[in-house]
Amino acid sequence: MSEKPPNHALSEMRCPVQLEDVDLFSPGAQEHWFEAYEILHAESPVLRIPGEGTSPDHDGFVLCKYEDLSRVVRDPVRFPPPRYAKRARGPAAARGPVTPRMNAMVASILSLRPTPELWKAHRQQLTDPWVGPRGAQRHEALITRTVDLLIDAWIDEGEVEFVGRFAAPLPARVMTTVLGFPLEDMPRLERWSKAQVRPFIHGRGHRNLLSPEEEAEQALVLQEFTDYVQEQVTRKRAEPGDDMISDLTQVTYPALDRKLSDVEIIGIVYAMHLGGLETTQYALTEQARLLCEHPELFGRLKGDPSQIRRFIEEAMRLRAPTQGLSTRMTTRDEEFQGVPVPAGSVLHLRFGAANLDPEEFACPHALDVDRKSPARHMTFSQGPRSCPGAGISRLEQTIAWSRLLERVDRLELAPGNRFLHQPGIMLGTLELRLRVTRAG
Ligand code: HEM
Repeated sequence: MSEKPPNHALSEMRCPVQLEDVDLFSPGAQEHWFEAYEILHAESPVLRIPGEGTSPDHDGFVLCKYEDLSRVVRDPVRFPPPRYAKRARGPAAARGPVTPRMNAMVASILSLRPTPELWKAHRQQLTDPWVGPRGAQRHEALITRTVDLLIDAWIDEGEVEFVGRFAAPLPARVMTTVLGFPLEDMPRLERWSKAQVRPFIHGRGHRNLLSPEEEAEQALVLQEFTDYVQEQVTRKRAEPGDDMISDLTQVTYPALDRKLSDVEIIGIVYAMHLGGLETTQYALTEQARLLCEHPELFGRLKGDPSQIRRFIEEAMRLRAPTQGLSTRMTTRDEEFQGVPVPAGSVLHLRFGAANLDPEEFACPHALDVDRKSPARHMTFSQGPRSCPGAGISRLEQTIAWSRLLERVDRLELAPGNRFLHQPGIMLGTLELRLRVTRAG
């Protein structure tokens, strides 16, 4: 296994060489996840984390096998999300009182989609028209315009820090416009977005726990976001525009045959803003690095842009932004890979490891755009609860690379890259310096 620089900003976590060394969650671990997955696949694809279950006397289990993750995410009744299962087990309880102090996102889930049928309707009727595979197509011109604008800003400079000047601002600008927020509010929105993702980056352990002080600080900042969205909702109810929030204020939700309340809309907007930014940023960043490392592929895609979609899927398999985003709980005694997993355990779904399962993908660490069914990775999860924003993210990635490949003749890693990653459970490269040669 190759030596890598330690992530000094965090710790000197060393590359694991045996099972006892594997620790996916301690500071610095993110620099060696891929080496850790190889060990886990070979020796312990179901890894117990003592005392990390639904209560201290239950355990957590990291699942790494593709077949196990696929089974779990496709059966949300048997394997519900832990928090959701604790709060409400059925539709009646789930519809119980929504207190003003309750987080709007949780409140809107409880009131709009407490059952599997309503979960499906919520996606089909409320979010798909804006961010689903077909609905996202309406943003094609917006995305293309945004991509070109960002490229214009650095194409003649010869070198660019790709994360800050492309991968991060692209999804931020797109989602801001899709939701209907004014672009001049982007600095404030960025601050709120950072607060939203804080647990996934700075949270501790596999449950992304913040300290009480950090939680209080986060709550204060996010209250500002809630107040801001409330203002937007009020304004758009009175004077709707052509954007997602306006649409949510006007629509009669067919599944419940009623309009949406302000809290419900704020909850949907909160989820879109939380899910729609950093994830796509990480995907674009990894893709840029992979293309620099595979110049022959860069040339092939330039010559045949119809292969771009295959490339982005394969890149998302290899370097999933969501390495370990989701958890579920067991509602009865289960067994995975011969390991007994009692009821009340928390399952940490290691999407990034499932994507590298040698039993599912031959030569799993190879970038092979000719793989059969390249989109069957677990990066967006699978089944009824899979990512509702996959459509718009795929479109952003596809347009980004079709414009970049047309406008750039050569993409190389600039000297000085350290390839360090943020902590947490997402694969977030902190910065990526590229040399860019403008197309003739
Ligand atoms: C490369 C980009 C993205 C990746 C890898 C990704 C991945 C995921 C994953 C793995 C989940 C959890 C699913 C589960 O637990 O089964 C999820 C949930 C979610 N994602 Fe994404 N996502 C991406 C982009 C987006 C975008 C662009 C949006 C919004 C426009 C979005 C919105 C959401 C929401 C709202 C959820 C929560 C599920 C729900 O409320 O229905 N995501 N995503």
